[in-house]
Amino acid sequence: MNTLKNDLLLRVLRGEKTERTPVWMMRQAGRYLPDYRALRAKYSFFERCQTPELATEITIQPVEQVGVDAAIIFSDILVVPQAMGMEVQLVESKGPLLPDPIRTKADLSRLIQPDVEEKLGYVFDALRLTKKTLAGRVPLIGFAGSPWTLLCYMVQGKGSKTFDEAKAFCYTQPETAHRLLQMITDVTIAYLRGQAAAGADVVQIFDSWGGLLGPDDFEDLSLRYMRQIVAAIKDEVLTIVFAKGAWHSLEGMAATGAHGLGIDWCIRPQMARQLAGPGVSLQGNFDPAKLLSPIPVIEREASAMMDAFAGGPGAGAYIANLGHGILPEVPVEHAIAFVETVKNHQYEPAR
Ligand code: CP3
Repeated sequence: MNTLKNDLLLRVLRGEKTERTPVWMMRQAGRYLPDYRALRAKYSFFERCQTPELATEITIQPVEQVGVDAAIIFSDILVVPQAMGMEVQLVESKGPLLPDPIRTKADLSRLIQPDVEEKLGYVFDALRLTKKTLAGRVPLIGFAGSPWTLLCYMVQGKGSKTFDEAKAFCYTQPETAHRLLQMITDVTIAYLRGQAAAGADVVQIFDSWGGLLGPDDFEDLSLRYMRQIVAAIKDEVLTIVFAKGAWHSLEGMAATGAHGLGIDWCIRPQMARQLAGPGVSLQGNFDPAKLLSPIPVIEREASAMMDAFAGGPGAGAYIANLGHGILPEVPVEHAIAFVETVKNHQYEPAR
């Protein structure tokens, strides 16, 4: 039935010893693979997400072509605002556009608390089909955006380096902001539970913009909602929290009870482990732009990353990954070199 031939990722997240370190790459589905680019020319982004056969094909491409130890379902974090009634467009070479952003308390009345089966059932269908097509080759990861990161897009209406309109909304209308964050949290809990029921072995919460907040605001606007989500799902499904740039709060993130924490490249592995404590798996943290280096540099630096995270006595559980999503311009051979380096790595001092 559901026996996995490669369950390295699951065993690391459960805190078990493994014969080698598992590896996958955030945003591995889509972006840099030529076969994805071909599908992209034929179907719109949301057609690709909403057609289970296409989503399955794109999800499995990096498993077959790059050799990663997990598949992450092809979808997007913005399907949640869409299910809540907002219009979401993906504008070629510009990124997401939400033409009617949330700006006031009155705007909240335009949002619905959707039945996730009805509005996001296509993601569950894609997970079921992917699970079946994978036939146990590797585990399947589901995901959602964090409430704070989704609020950023729902209020700003588009991508931004600073999300200052989203922040101004939270700082000037805190009650409305918290109502919105709670609405997103409730939908996300139902959505991630549905993903687990449809076959996701692991779910990751992407808090891509957590690092824009200072530690107190991160606690107030982001972590407290992720804590609710993790508490609601962690006994049902293995859970990874990735809050880019929020290394100051690794201790608090570990205390959510998440099984894994994503780490970006701006913190040393040893310090991340010190802050997170021994009880959680760490995942990361190769600088995605470094995959543009010559292959020998990728091999050397990926090996050094592995030793820094998992070499030596006292090292905890570790999953090799990038510190953020893979870039579209990365040559496929470079992604393969990264994955192969992890797979062949011999840790220096005994683990
Ligand atoms: O990991 C995977 O490969 C699974 C698929 C996935 C996508 N988006 C597909 C996608 C995942 C996990 C996401 C998450 C996502 N989406 C995040 C969080 C992770 C992160 O990178 O911080 C965010 C912030 C978004 C919002 C979003 N969607 C943006 C900013 C963009 C445009 C630019 C880009 O490529 O990131 C998208 C579109 C999008 N989502 C594409 C893909 C493959 C590009 C669509 C295309 O041009 O083909």
